Amino acid sequence: MVCLGNICRSPLAEGILKSKVNTQKIFVDSAGTGNYHIGRLPDERSITVAKKNLLDITDQRCRQFQMADFDEFDLIYVMDNSNRRDVLKLSRNENDKDKVKMILNEIFPDENVDVPDPYHDNQRGFENVFNMLDKACTIIAQRLLDHD
Ligand code: 4NP
Repeated sequence: MVCLGNICRSPLAEGILKSKVNTQKIFVDSAGTGNYHIGRLPDERSITVAKKNLLDITDQRCRQFQMADFDEFDLIYVMDNSNRRDVLKLSRNENDKDKVKMILNEIFPDENVDVPDPYHDNQRGFENVFNMLDKACTIIAQRLLDHD
């Protein structure tokens, strides 16, 4: 799960997907394309909305997405078009590129809709993001089960 800061959207996506899959079998992680917040906890507002939905994301620490992640992961979900461009810049071949998916295309196929960056928004914005990611992750989890 990749966003810009790895403190607002992708930590929620990581926590939500982990709650819906068998984490003994499926490794879920998140990262940011930027390097501003490396080592930090998720944003308080993400921690709050997660907690409201009975998820604890305080074990997460921000890290930056790197080229080696293409070797580590089969699927790379990006939150918006800007994240997609930044991740694709680090891709080395078609196989790498094929791993990169817009997360809301799970709900709205081929529409390339962004998960809005809630950083400058209020708690409502984070709740909106949580709900979108929850829907997308339900579909992703079902797909992973079908492929099991
Ligand atoms: P995120 O949100 O990409 O969902 O983690 C942001 C967090 C921090 C910044 C931008 C987006 N920032 O510019 O510091």
